Amino acid sequence: MSFFKNIKTENIELKLPFLKDDGFEIFMKREDLIHPIISGNKFRKLKYNIEKFKKNKNSTLITFGGAYSNHLLAVSYIAKIENINSIAFVRGDELGVLPLNSTLQRCFDNGMVFKFISREKYRFRNDSDFLKNLSSKYNNAFIIPEGGTNDLGILGCEEILTLRDKNFFDVICVPVGSGGTFSGLINSSLKKQKILGFSALKNSNIINVINKFVNKNNWELIDEDLFGGYAKSNQNLIHFINKFYNDSNIKLDPIYNSKMIFKILKIIKQNKWIYGKKILIVNTGGLQSVESFNKTLKNKKCATINYSL
Ligand SMILES: Cc1ncc(COP(=O)(O)O)c(C=O)c1O
Repeated sequence: MSFFKNIKTENIELKLPFLKDDGFEIFMKREDLIHPIISGNKFRKLKYNIEKFKKNKNSTLITFGGAYSNHLLAVSYIAKIENINSIAFVRGDELGVLPLNSTLQRCFDNGMVFKFISREKYRFRNDSDFLKNLSSKYNNAFIIPEGGTNDLGILGCEEILTLRDKNFFDVICVPVGSGGTFSGLINSSLKKQKILGFSALKNSNIINVINKFVNKNNWELIDEDLFGGYAKSNQNLIHFINKFYNDSNIKLDPIYNSKMIFKILKIIKQNKWIYGKKILIVNTGGLQSVESFNKTLKNKKCATINYSL
């Protein structure tokens, strides 16, 4: 039986004390509960890519990612259970001589082969000549771009919203990395809905990427309050993550979802929320990164996140 079934995830209402009387109805779509490793958008983005891989009878999966990448771990996991060879081009050749962090160690244990490349070379990951070379070198390989963001990945993300979500919610919020999940939500939304993307990193090209994939303009990208940038944090964020867990019993990842929710609540608290009050927050999972994150925090003698996967 295929790992990738058609699924609908549950929406749960967030009953945070300060929102009580303001007329907000805030729900979280628990995509994070789909699977501990292939959680949230990873499941959505790999679904049709793996289907195509099998249909094409390709021999090897090749993909790209950074040291904490949820995407690499998800690809290595599906490759293991489907008995597929997987190769990852990892950003940062310095990582090749360091002990593997827990994300990369898990990928390795799943049988993934690493090619560590310099940050300069990594910039060419979507370049057509670079990809052509790769295809001729790795004969019969199926290449999935970084983050799983391609037409097939986006098609999978178009399945996140149900008909009820489209009819009920004014605003859909989602974290943004490579832009695929956001694009899928935009494509499947109704024009009257607003889709808000919360960037996990500054990327001056992301708007062009999104525009390439979407067919509507009912969206806005928010890229402030990044806590120093991709995978960076400070005591405020860690405190927020731990408090949110205490208040709601929901574990947030430190790279994407926690920063999005921090920002949403900040805008609301400042009375600057200019969108509708029926809000759906898509929790895209990614909890596997907590372990590596906590190790880094511990080494810096900083407070850590009170939970793991
Ligand atoms: C947990 C998690 N949430 C959100 C994102 C961002 O998704 P996208 O790359 O489709 O923008 C990622 C990265 O892929 C992720 O791992």
